Amino acid sequence: IVRARLYATALGLYKCQLNGRAVTDDIFRPGWTDYTKRVQYQAYDVTDLLRTGENVIGAALGDGWHCGFLGSAPRQQYGDRPRFLATLVIEHPDGDETTLVTDERWRYRFGPVLEADLLMGETYDARREIRGWSSPGLDESDWVKVLTFEDPGIDRVSSASPPVRRIEERVAVAEPIERTGNKKQRHWIFDFGQNLVGRTRLRLKASAGTTARLRFAEMLQDNGTLYTANLRSARATDFYTFRGDDQPEVWEPCFTFHGFRYAEILIEGSAEHSAVTREALTAVVLHSDTPGIGTFECSDPLVNQLQSNIRWGQKGNFLEVPTDCPQRDERLGWTGDAQVFIRTACFNADVAGFFTKWQQDLADAQGDAGWYPAIVPNPVGLALGDGGPAWADAGIICPWTIYECYGDSRLLERHYDSMSRFMGYLDRTRAEGLRCHPDKSYHSFGDWLSLDGPGTTLSGGTARDLIGTGYLARCAEIMTKVAKILKRPEDAKRFAALRNEVIESFNREFVTPGGRISEDTQTAYLVALGFDLLPEAVRPAAFDRLIGKLRRNGWRLSTGFVGTPLLCPVLTRFGRTDVAYKLLLQQGYPSWLYTVLQGATTMWERWNSYTKEHGFGDVGMNSFNHYAYGAVGQWLYATVAGINLDPERPGYKHAILRPEPGGGLTHAKATLETPYGVLSSAWQIESNTMHYKATLPPNATGTFYPPPNAKADRDHYELNSGTHEFSLPINAEQRVSQ
Ligand code: BGC
Repeated sequence: IVRARLYATALGLYKCQLNGRAVTDDIFRPGWTDYTKRVQYQAYDVTDLLRTGENVIGAALGDGWHCGFLGSAPRQQYGDRPRFLATLVIEHPDGDETTLVTDERWRYRFGPVLEADLLMGETYDARREIRGWSSPGLDESDWVKVLTFEDPGIDRVSSASPPVRRIEERVAVAEPIERTGNKKQRHWIFDFGQNLVGRTRLRLKASAGTTARLRFAEMLQDNGTLYTANLRSARATDFYTFRGDDQPEVWEPCFTFHGFRYAEILIEGSAEHSAVTREALTAVVLHSDTPGIGTFECSDPLVNQLQSNIRWGQKGNFLEVPTDCPQRDERLGWTGDAQVFIRTACFNADVAGFFTKWQQDLADAQGDAGWYPAIVPNPVGLALGDGGPAWADAGIICPWTIYECYGDSRLLERHYDSMSRFMGYLDRTRAEGLRCHPDKSYHSFGDWLSLDGPGTTLSGGTARDLIGTGYLARCAEIMTKVAKILKRPEDAKRFAALRNEVIESFNREFVTPGGRISEDTQTAYLVALGFDLLPEAVRPAAFDRLIGKLRRNGWRLSTGFVGTPLLCPVLTRFGRTDVAYKLLLQQGYPSWLYTVLQGATTMWERWNSYTKEHGFGDVGMNSFNHYAYGAVGQWLYATVAGINLDPERPGYKHAILRPEPGGGLTHAKATLETPYGVLSSAWQIESNTMHYKATLPPNATGTFYPPPNAKADRDHYELNSGTHEFSLPINAEQRVSQ
């Protein structure tokens, strides 16, 4: 043969082997899409796996998103059982091709995997393994004929995003702690030192028929046992039954994942087994293979831990689709969460392919009326309709951010019609110019989890119509730019006019001439200022009110998912980076560093998901891996370290370098692998001098703006590729008390 290619896909999950060898180490193939419309296939070069003589191909199937539990919905959202489809194309030297397909001649048998579910876990009985199930010489006399199915008639597309892979394997930070509750059962708890997402690899010797139960948790309770109440109905439990080999048996499940820092092994007390040491269980980190491209580091170890927590929140929740959380019975593509975090995500990792694929998911999930839903993909059993402000708007904000960060307009081009239909929907459903008019029953999550509200609501105290109308103006602003880039001047005019109209309604309804906003919350001011909704003349007064509110609140935030990402960027934009630092470095509740000081190794859903003083927060919704508040990461890169992009020359063709030292930090540095090469920005302060060093990649330029508190002979410097150094006198004192 000259070459052989295998095309494979499944409704469900598949793991394929040829002659006893895996065709790929990709995980959770074919990935998650709306299986009523589209499924991805993968193509593998399997030339080297074929041999002369008999060849055997096999596939193991799991339920996955297709027919396993999904969020809090019942099983079988898309279908009742997994199905597999493959074509093997073999090219011969004479130009002929042999094509083999999955047809009624295939045979199956149930194997060692007794249960496999993403939320519930995997049950594996090694005694039931079929030796050589995909190798020549297999005796399949007791295998039965497969069931074949009609083509479901959905699109089959090549996968656009990087696959989930095994990214790293971690050993527990110490020997596992044995907790012998009773003699019948023994259990050991492993601490991997980091809340992560993936699975474990078991290496243990035990007598045949012994079962090890594995459970997972993000936190421990005071008595040292696993805290699993926050997983809700996700059982997150694996079982492995030993063959009874002479050697330690090695097992890693393949159709499940868990969110955990701690894992527990439980074995019946009477079972014979080798010692349970650190080596007995390691943690395997899984996520969509979005390589890290950014680093941020500064002189404050707590801020560095915050950056690490943001990064880990991103790793664990970028698994096939951007999810809210990776552990409880949710793990869904919540659009709002993705939208607030995407800019930060683009600093940390190369997420271009990941969001390119998800944008198609958004388009697939779009309602006939034009809305985007709150979760994407949007399975029928969970279907929520219009996602409402800040959630649905992901359909506009995400592709725009990807364009800005990578400079590739094809995503905008491909989805322009879908994006325009969404704008049409928003425009049509306005009442008195407002989105989410209070007299109509529009859906909205408000400023989710904000502390401004009356306490009884999760949506916070900022009116939904204010957030909705503000976000509509923001979307219209983006669409004006998109239409210009795609050379549709008429559309651009239309979107610009819509934006003006919406802004007028916003001001008429919510803003006094003196710059007071009717909803007296931090988020209301942040939306108004951050999205440029106020007349120039009113902005200073409105900004003063925001500062007043923060001061009266003891320099603490009270924002939820909507307000938090805007907080530091707005303070910087209006000249109060000192206040932004005050919030960043705040250690009291609620603040970013508060969670760091409570021991967080990822971002938490709530500022008080756990406190040393009061223990665990409300169990109904208490994720320890929820990236939304990590949206501050964008400001760390852009303002603390100074790396930003120029929207006019996207993809960092021209970088804006605007570092603003403050908060008593003595140095900060960020690096970013842009499409042009590595860009870096670093400063250090020594006896009132700021030493600044920037490196620009080939074929890119930058503009360096010295900080307002530095003395420089110019207000900006144009820089070319290469390394540039500046030494500037600086007054790095804080002035926050004003
Ligand atoms: C999710 C959020 C999501 C929200 C919608 C929650 O259950 O975990 O992150 O955005 O619902 O308000």
